[in-house]
Amino acid sequence: MQPMFVRNTWYAAAWEREVGDGLIGVTVAGEPLAIHRRVDGSYTALHDACPHRKLPLSMGRVHGDVVECGYHGMRFDGSGACVAAPTNGTVPPGVAVRSFPAHARYGLVWVWLGDPVLADPATIFEVRHWGEPGWGCTVGDDMVVACHHGYITDNLLDPSHVAWVHPASFAGAGTDDTPMEITLADSGVTVWRWLFDTPPPPFYAPYLPFDGNCDRKQQYEVRYPSHALITAIFTPAGEGGEDRPLHPDAFVMDSYNFLTPVDERTTRYFWFQMRNVQADDNAVSLQFAASVKAAFAEDKVVLEAVQRGIDASTTPIINLRSDTGGVRFRRRLEHLLEAERAR
Ligand code: FES
Ligand SMILES: [Fe+2]
Repeated sequence: MQPMFVRNTWYAAAWEREVGDGLIGVTVAGEPLAIHRRVDGSYTALHDACPHRKLPLSMGRVHGDVVECGYHGMRFDGSGACVAAPTNGTVPPGVAVRSFPAHARYGLVWVWLGDPVLADPATIFEVRHWGEPGWGCTVGDDMVVACHHGYITDNLLDPSHVAWVHPASFAGAGTDDTPMEITLADSGVTVWRWLFDTPPPPFYAPYLPFDGNCDRKQQYEVRYPSHALITAIFTPAGEGGEDRPLHPDAFVMDSYNFLTPVDERTTRYFWFQMRNVQADDNAVSLQFAASVKAAFAEDKVVLEAVQRGIDASTTPIINLRSDTGGVRFRRRLEHLLEAERAR
C-alpha cells in the first residue's frame, strides 16, 4: 500500500507530561508507537507490538531503560533489541522491534518515522522567543479531530473563516473579504494581510496595551507537511503596515499549531501560544489557554462535519479565491509525498 503521509519529518507524538510513569501508546501517521521515557529523561519510540503475540508494548511495564511486554515478559531496549525472553530461556536470535528516532523539545516528544539517517533534531519546528524574557507561553493543549489533516491546513491557510466560525473571538472588521497576500517557500505557504483602523476583535481586546482602533496583521504560515505558525500583530491605528518598524506598543502573539496525522480520518492537533505582553502573568496565560481551547472547539465541529460531508458527497467540491493558499499547499505536499514514495 502507498504511504499516505510524509514520513521524513518530525511529528509531535505526545506531551512529555503525558508519558507519566514512562510508557504510553500513540499512533502517528498510521504507526502504532510505544513512547518510553528513559532514566536519563530521553525518549524512545518503539513499534507498539511485541514480536511474540503482538500485545502492544505500551500495555507493558518499564524497568529502567527497557520495556517489558505485559504478556510473557520479553524485554526490549531503546534500540528495539530483545534483551530478555524469560519463557524461552534465552533471547531468540535476531528478534527486535523497530525503533524510531524520538526527541523532546518544547514539552513535546517528537518522532521521526522516515529514514533515521535524515532525523536531525535541528529540523524540529523552531519556536522563536522560547524561554526569552518578555515572552509568555500558555500551557499547551491538544484535541483529536476526526478529519484528515489536510482539512485543517486548508482551514489554517484560509483566515477568512474566522468571520463565520469564530464570531465571538477572532472575527473582526475586514476578516471576511479582505484578500490575502501569499508567499510561497520551499518550506511551506504563508498567507497574510493587514487590516487597518479596525476595532480590536473580542479575543485580543483585553490584552492590547493601547486604546482605540488598531491596525491588525493576520499571518498564517503552514509548513510541510502539517505544522503552522500563526502570528497576530496589533498596533495602534495608523502605526501598522508591512514596511513599518514594529511599534513599541505592538501586541504580538505567535500561535504554534502542530498537526499529527493519526490515520486518514483522524488528526491530533497540538498547540501553544507565545505572547509579548504580560509575559509573567499566569492568569493571563490561563485565560488565553481557555479562550483558544474554546475557539478551536468551534473549528473541530466544522472540520469533522466537513470530513463527513466530503465523504458522503457525490458532487465535486469547488474552490474560492480564499482557498488559493490551501490549494498551493496541497499541490506541493502531493509532490513531496510522491518524492518519498519514489525513494
Ligand atoms: S506477547 Fe509479548 S512476550 Fe508474549
Ligand atoms: Fe479557526
